[in-house]
Parts: sequence; C-alpha cells; structure tokens
Amino acid sequence: MEALKVNSDRLWDSLMEMAKIGGTEKGGCCRLAATDLDKQGRELYIKWAEEAGCTVKVDAVGNIMCTRPGEDMSLPPVGSGSHLDTQPTGGKFDGVYGVLAALEAVRTMNDNDIKTKHPIEISVWTNEEGSRFAPAMMGSGVVSGRFSLEEILDSKDVDGLRLGDELARIGFAGDEPVTGRKFHAFFETHIEQGPYLEAEEKQVGVVTGGQGQRWYNAVLTGRESHAGTTPMHLRNDALIASSKLVLKVEEIAKAHPPGCGTVGFMQVMPNSRNTIPGEISMSIDLRHPIDEELSAMDADLKAAIKEIEESGPNIELDPFWYYEPIHFNQDCIAAVRKATQDLGYSHMDIIAGAGHDACYVSDFAPTSMVFTPCLNGISHNEIESTTQEECEGGCSVLLNAMLTMAEVV
Ligand code: GLV
Ligand code: MN
Ligand code: MN
Ligand code: MN
Repeated sequence: MEALKVNSDRLWDSLMEMAKIGGTEKGGCCRLAATDLDKQGRELYIKWAEEAGCTVKVDAVGNIMCTRPGEDMSLPPVGSGSHLDTQPTGGKFDGVYGVLAALEAVRTMNDNDIKTKHPIEISVWTNEEGSRFAPAMMGSGVVSGRFSLEEILDSKDVDGLRLGDELARIGFAGDEPVTGRKFHAFFETHIEQGPYLEAEEKQVGVVTGGQGQRWYNAVLTGRESHAGTTPMHLRNDALIASSKLVLKVEEIAKAHPPGCGTVGFMQVMPNSRNTIPGEISMSIDLRHPIDEELSAMDADLKAAIKEIEESGPNIELDPFWYYEPIHFNQDCIAAVRKATQDLGYSHMDIIAGAGHDACYVSDFAPTSMVFTPCLNGISHNEIESTTQEECEGGCSVLLNAMLTMAEVV
C-alpha cells in the first residue's frame, strides 16, 4: 500500500478548537489535570472519537480508551495516544497534538475505508504533566504497574484535594480495570519540545528512547526572626540556603552534560517582607539519558545538601520519583523510520528529553514515538508553536506506522 497522508486542515482545526478550552491571553493553554477544563476537553475528545466510530471506555484512574474495531478482536490493539492536561502556562500542542494525531489517524482510516486485522485503540492518559498532582505520567504509570492505583488516587494538589475525588467530581472515575491492558504496538506523536530537529532542519524525529529522571521534594528549615533586629551573623535564613541549593542544582547538571537540573517550584514560609524566611519547600528535577550519570548527579546533590546544611538549616530531601532511561522497541522504531522514508520526510534519530506516557507504556508493550519540530525548541510556555505542515507530517508518519503494525486487510 502507498503511504497515506492525513487530512491536514481537519487535524489543525481540531487542535485549534481544543486549544480554546483553557486558552490563555498569550495564546497558550491552561488545562490542569482533573479540573473543570480538563472535563470539558475530555468530553469534546470523546464526542469526536464517537463520531469517528470508536467505542469509548474510562478506567479507574480516568484514562480514556477509544477503540476502532479490527477484523480479529481477539488480537491486542495497536495503540496511540498522549495527554490533554497542560502545564499552568502551557502551550496548545504539548500532549494535545498526540491525542488529536491519533484521532486524525483513525479519521483518515475511515475516509479510506481501511480495515485492519488488529483493532486500533487510542488513549488519553490522565495527568501526564505532574504539575497539579506529582509525579508525572500517572495514568500510564498505573497501567504499567509503576504506581499503585490507591497511591495515585490518594495524591493531593497544593490545596489538599485528592486526585480520586477530583476525577469523581468531573465524572471520570471510570469502572474499567487498570490492569491487563495490552498493545500489539504503541506509538505516541509529540512535538519535540527541544531545539534539535529545528537546528538540524529535519521534519521528523524517530525517537529511540527517553532520558532518565529523578524528582525530589526538599524542605529546608531555618529560623524565622525579625528582618530589622536580627544581625546578619545570627540568622538561619532558609531562603539563602535554598538559593545556594538552586545554584548547586545548576552546577551539577552542567557538570554532567547533557544532563538537566531544574528547581521549578518553591514555597517561602511565612512569605512576609519583614520576617526572615523560616522554611522553604522546593522541587528538584534531575535528568540524564545515561543511568550511571543520573546516579552520579543524585550523589552530587546529596553531597551538596550536606555541605549547605553545615551552614545552618536542616534539609529533608524526599526522592519520591525515579525512572531509568527508556529504550524503545526496535520493530516500532523501524516502523516509524520506514513510514518517514516512505513519505519522503527528512529525519533523524533522537532521545526524548521530556517524560512521555509512551515511556511507561514501553514497560508492557512494544513502543516508540514520533517527534515533530517546534518553534525555537520552546515548550512548557504559552508561546509554544509549530506549523500545520509539521503537525500533518508527524501525524502521517504515525498513521503509516500504525497501519504497518495493525496489518491492513
Ligand atoms: C513531564 O511531562 C515532563 O517531562 O516534565
Ligand atoms: Mn507532553
Ligand atoms: Mn509537558
Ligand atoms: Mn511530558
């Protein structure tokens, strides 16, 4: 069969329509997991999936599964999907592109009366971002067995609201089991979220794996006291200590290229102008494509904390999430590469810097990903941008890779 192309306008229109739900003034999107806006996005997605002839089910962690029948329903489906939740100042494409590309692949199969031996199953995974509820990739992580359903439903946002209660509130605490999911193959399409494809002038990234991640919470306890009456040498200022820690995180990442280190969240207590900060809560995110290097970064972080503690505050470090670098399946990687070549797109192999649901799906199913360029490599930002042509390209690659694995009859 000749390589097929998806309907570019329909894909783009769906992206722009979905982006209105939680759309921000700067052109981005804020649709946090298990909020009213997430509910609206999910409901629109289900409407579209049903219009495309899919049967829709929701599991106990809120993952949405949309099935297009195959000739042999006893075979495991070929899957694709990503997430609808965004960062607080997110863009229109991170995650959303992956779920709408999967839907557009199904719509194009319908347009061309394509029948496949394996069923097709598209997934909207719950809380990929890990922004409102940490860690990230909760829905796919529960299905892969990395997390227990109970611990995930019990995770709380900064206001103390439980994910399980929030899912029930928006009507997405489903009754399908989270265990026993199978895929013959799984593909996730995503914007690259980094600068490499653009710099190399490639249209498609054939993703061979994902870098490892370690997430921590740190609580630094100093002593609150008066900003005007406490001499500088008698202070135990938790913000000063955490500032040193922020700089250490940067230093550690730079000492282990191409590792990354980020402090993206900080709470200052009591956050009052004329009181020396007594307690700081902060996040630390370390990433590296090589596990030994990531372990070395972890050791450096612990050593840095010991050193900073000597200057005053107590530091509690909670290393609450780790996943090792992921290597995708060779057959799935080959299917993506072949689809890219058949369609005549320029391409390169690439490793995912961000976390993706596909990383957890690869625990239990042959998996790989398709990347497309994004403007200036910027993501997790309202100005995140890409073109209709790039979206169409990645989606056409997805469609053909899926058809290879699902076997057209
Ligand atoms: C989460 O998806 C991340 O990679 O930050
Ligand atoms: Mn994403
Ligand atoms: Mn993201
Ligand atoms: Mn991500």
